[in-house]
Parts: sequence; C-alpha cells; structure tokens
Amino acid sequence: KKVVLAYSGGLDTSVILKWLQDTYQCEVVTFTADIGQGEELEPARKKAEMFGVKQIFIDDLREEFVRDFVFPMFRANTIYEGEYLLGTSIARPLIAKRQIEIANQVGADAVSHGATGKGNDQVRFELGYYALKPDVKVVAPWREWDLLSREKLLTYAEKAGIPIDMKHKQGGAPYSMDANLLHISFEGRHLENPSAEAEEAMWRWTVSPEAAPDEAEYLDVEFERGDIVALNGQRMSPAQVLTELNRLGGKHGIGRLDLVENRYVGMKSRGCYETPGGTIMLRAHRAIESITLDREVAHLKDDLMPRYASLIYNGYWWAPERKALQVLIDHTQQTVNGWVRLKLYKGNVIVVSRDSKSNSLFDMNIATFDDDGGAYNQADAGGFIKLNALRMRIASRLNSKR
Ligand code: ARG
Ligand code: SIN
Repeated sequence: KKVVLAYSGGLDTSVILKWLQDTYQCEVVTFTADIGQGEELEPARKKAEMFGVKQIFIDDLREEFVRDFVFPMFRANTIYEGEYLLGTSIARPLIAKRQIEIANQVGADAVSHGATGKGNDQVRFELGYYALKPDVKVVAPWREWDLLSREKLLTYAEKAGIPIDMKHKQGGAPYSMDANLLHISFEGRHLENPSAEAEEAMWRWTVSPEAAPDEAEYLDVEFERGDIVALNGQRMSPAQVLTELNRLGGKHGIGRLDLVENRYVGMKSRGCYETPGGTIMLRAHRAIESITLDREVAHLKDDLMPRYASLIYNGYWWAPERKALQVLIDHTQQTVNGWVRLKLYKGNVIVVSRDSKSNSLFDMNIATFDDDGGAYNQADAGGFIKLNALRMRIASRLNSKR
C-alpha cells in the first residue's frame, strides 16, 4: 500500500507524513512542487529522507503553472466576488494533476493532502483527484485525526522528532499562508476578526502605497492571443513575465487585498492577499481587449466570467463545463494582439495608451468629433433611436390613456 502525499516540507505536512506512516502503516511517497512559493525545496527532501521516504518527487512546475493555468484564467479577466484573483484556487488543479501522475507512476492507490475539513482546498484537491483517477483513495488527515489544536499538533511533532521552527514555538501559530507565482495569501490569527486591520508587518511582497516611490514608472506590455509575451520590449517566458510583474508591482505597492469571501463549504472567511503581478495583468488585459474585441464578444465574456470564476474557486477546473468555457474564451483571444502602456504609481495601475497593429477595431475616422467626411451618417442615428424607443412609446401612450 502506497500513498502519495502533497508535501510542502512545513510543520503540518510533516506531521501528516509521520501520522500516515503510524496510522496506516503504509509507504508514503512525497511530492513537493515548486510553483514559485519562493521557498527552498531541498529541506523538504532532507526531511522526507529523515522519515525513511524512499520515493521523493520534487518538481519545478513554475512554467506549466503560469502557461497552462494562470494565463488561461486571465484570458477571461477572472475575478471571484468582484475582488479575489484566485491565486490559491488556480494552483490546486495542477498539484492534483501532478500528484495523480506520480500515483500512477509509482503504483499508489491513495493520495493525501494537508488541507483542513473547513476549507476550499480540500474540495479542489479531491475533485481533481477523482476527475483524473476515479477510483483513487483519498486520505485527508485533518478530517480524521484528533490533532485539532495547535498544542496537540506540536506535541505530536515533538514526539515524532519533527524539527519545529522558532515561529511556531514563540506563542501563537503563524498565519495560514499559501504562496505561488500568482499570489501569497494570509488567513487566521487576528485576521479571523474581520473588524481588525491587518498589521503592516504581515505583508511580504508589496510595500504599502504610502512607502512606494514618488516617481511613477512606465511599463510596456505586449500581448499575443491574450497572453503577455514581452515586457518593455523584452520577450519572456510566462513564469518570467509573472516574476517580473510581481517585482514591479511589489515595488509600487500594487495588489494588496483584504477580503471577506464566501467559501464553497458555506462559511464566510476573511483573508488578505498580495497579487502584484496579477493585478497588473488584469488591467493590461482589459485594456488590450478594449480595442481588439468585438463589443458583443466582450460583453458575453463578461457575462460568463463570474460563472467561470466560481468554477475555479469551487474546484471544477477539470469539469466539462469549465473546459467548454475555456474553448470559447480561448477562441475569442485570437485577435487579442498588441501592446498596452501602463503607469505604476503608489498602488495604482494606470492605463495610458494602447494599440494593435493587426487587430484594432478602433476607427479614428468614425469616432472623431471632427468632420469624418461621411464615414458615419449621423442621420441614421435618428431612426435607430426611434425604433429602439418604439415599445416604450407604445406603453407610454397606453399609460396616459388610463
Ligand atoms: N481563501 C483562499 C482560497 O480559498 C485562500 C486559501 C488559502 N489556502 C491555504 N491553504 N492557506 O482560495
Ligand atoms: C484550509 O482549510 O486548508 C485552508 C483554507 C481553505 O482551503 O479555504
């Protein structure tokens, strides 16, 4: 019996690793992914070896994460509940996919993760597992064990000889954090009270807008088929693009968010997020679409977007309806080519210009307030308005007769 564990190397998943060995007497295979969380991964290998793990997988998934998950999601201008850029939600399907690949490769019939029974992540992982390996066994220790308090967890760790960081010992648990190339999230601790402001020292990637440079910085963003392919004239890979946008956004205090959101399991939860690069990408993408997309196509995308966002938030990345929407979204992006110029300034992303050589639908001749030489016949507008008013005129006449 083998189980593949999504292993971060942190305290919680280390306890899970030991607990799986103790409770199920099974062989544990660990899988650790680099999705840009900015942590050393070699310590995870060392720790896994310490527990006698024989098969240790450590994969750099950064390019795949941005190319096949983050970029496709941004083509839809995806936002959950008007605010959240889905940084955690979009990483889970990739981790689930790779975990199942490993399970198949090593002949494991079970997989395990460190998400609690109260959150969204358990749903996202497990919907992914079942979609990709229908008969897989899922072990979710947080839903089974009795280590529900921090004390019990620490005692278990101490007995098991798991090294405990100072930050865990010095009163109180750290924030529940999740980081990848798209964002870093903070939950728990004093954030659990939504009326309390987050402490400045919590934020990791961004300076506060007050502390950001007094000079604005210009940034040129180039798009091909809805994806960013170059920054300031320099072509880059997807992961390079997002890394550089995070640096620029962080420097200018862009992309902080403090939010109470509705979890899929039914509760409201308060979280803080830093999504510097994503915040810039969204603004830039809308700007390039503003000249390259047909009005009705753009509006259709906007109608569908909240549905698409909920699918990702709720864990349905691998579901047929998400895939169908993706085909539609990707189809619309064929014409989304061109560039956008932005100004980054004290927490703001300001669009200042945009153009597309081959796909701009903007017609200066038609839009001008000057004499357009007959390109647009203003007299046509009279009939257009009158017919659109017809039903209101009929109703109005009826009303005044009553
Ligand atoms: N509330 C966010 C979401 O559901 C962030 C979750 C963070 N996950 C974590 N394991 N700390 O996407
Ligand atoms: C967790 O409960 O494991 C983290 C929060 C979430 O999944 O929503």
